[in-house]
Amino acid sequence: MAQTKDKKENLMEKIVSLAKRRGFIFPGSEIYGGLANSWDYGPLGVELKNNIKQLWWKKFVQERDDMVGIDAALIMNPKVWEASGHLKNFSDALIECKNCHHRFRTDSLTMDGGYYVCTDCNGREFTEAKSFNLMFKTFLGLSEDAANVVYFRPETAQGMFVDFKNVLNTNRKQVPFGIAQIGKAFRNEITPGNFIFRTREFEQMEIEYFIYEKDWEKYFEYWKKQIIDWIKELGVDIKKIHEREVSESDRAHYSKKTIDFDYEFPFGTNELYGLAYRTDFDLKNHEKFSGHNLKYKDHETNEEFWPHVIEPTWGVDRSVLVVLLEAYCEEENRVVLKISPRLAPYKAAVFPLLANKPELVKLARKIYDDLRPQFMTAWDDRGNIGKRYYSQDEIGTPFCVTVDFDTLLDKKVTVRDRDTMKQERIAIERLENYLSDKLNV
Ligand code: GAP
Repeated sequence: MAQTKDKKENLMEKIVSLAKRRGFIFPGSEIYGGLANSWDYGPLGVELKNNIKQLWWKKFVQERDDMVGIDAALIMNPKVWEASGHLKNFSDALIECKNCHHRFRTDSLTMDGGYYVCTDCNGREFTEAKSFNLMFKTFLGLSEDAANVVYFRPETAQGMFVDFKNVLNTNRKQVPFGIAQIGKAFRNEITPGNFIFRTREFEQMEIEYFIYEKDWEKYFEYWKKQIIDWIKELGVDIKKIHEREVSESDRAHYSKKTIDFDYEFPFGTNELYGLAYRTDFDLKNHEKFSGHNLKYKDHETNEEFWPHVIEPTWGVDRSVLVVLLEAYCEEENRVVLKISPRLAPYKAAVFPLLANKPELVKLARKIYDDLRPQFMTAWDDRGNIGKRYYSQDEIGTPFCVTVDFDTLLDKKVTVRDRDTMKQERIAIERLENYLSDKLNV
């Protein structure tokens, strides 16, 4: 058991180290000693993250008739947060251990005999729980007075509710339909940590799906399946996913039913994505606070009502983390990231067998230039072929293409598959089609 735990913790260390060494994710503001729990996506990380976001957008927005996307402002009128209930309710209860003075969210601690137990020193005496609002505050304009206080959004969702009427007026959408958004959210988390799992600045991919109230259970089930499908598309082992119904006391203030999709992270099983039935809570309150009619008019009956909402929500950074965790493999002589080809930062890498043979370099360069408009392609002419394969395996490049002396004669290249390590000779003129088929892009 202890060994399994060590192995798992080790995996996290290996991912953090590989992420930094190969340019996926760096500690934020590192040259100034860093900033606690902030991370920067490097050249490979941003490709991986963008591929995840693009796949999501294509699947849930572009390929569907019942969905439109928006990109709302991050700082919204502060009344939004009054109406949404976040000013009043979006808080965690914070307690401090009287022995070691470490602070905890009450829901992160276990209880023994009616007492919280400090995970750091086993202490059982704590200060009174204090409620701590998680929204980041700033000031709009020059003067830092209460009238100018604004908040960084803690969820992207409110953009969809506030723009609901504008979307309806400009698109011929009928209930059921959804509004989707990808963007940053900010929370002044009490216990950030575990690399990019819980940070104070993160990205979400969210859908507010507007329905008739009577259909809420049907669409809740429907979106549950969609979330599972998505998890499979990421290449995640579904056996490591556990659906957990969130109890009434732990549910967000707006939700009548919530399911969290927990993943077996190396540091413990914890929330990956969520699904909530938000009822008509948000539209109703925004109508009340803004004075604008946010009702939907049924096209057949002319009845006006606030549609109910099913909200599936995905964390982008947690998606990146599970993809890395699931893809990481140590084999006899190599470390390989078996990332789904659609998500891999580079789809192919091109090498001339020898860097000092101009005829090989010239042809390899032409193949590289021809592939680049179609696929994100890497170039490598350093060291020997073995080292180049090793280097590409470690960042998950599905195919390596080598131009050798035979290529000059038979116009074929050697294509090596990341996962099987098998090599095939492919005619240069067929290469693009061959890769498209294999990559499924
Ligand atoms: N609009 C609903 C909502 O925001 P949530 O469960 O609080 O629900 C949705 O957040 C998703 O955002 C989570 O399932 C998780 O993937 C991600 N997430 C939440 N807080 C996060 C944090 N501090 N750091 C990274 N990701 C976070």
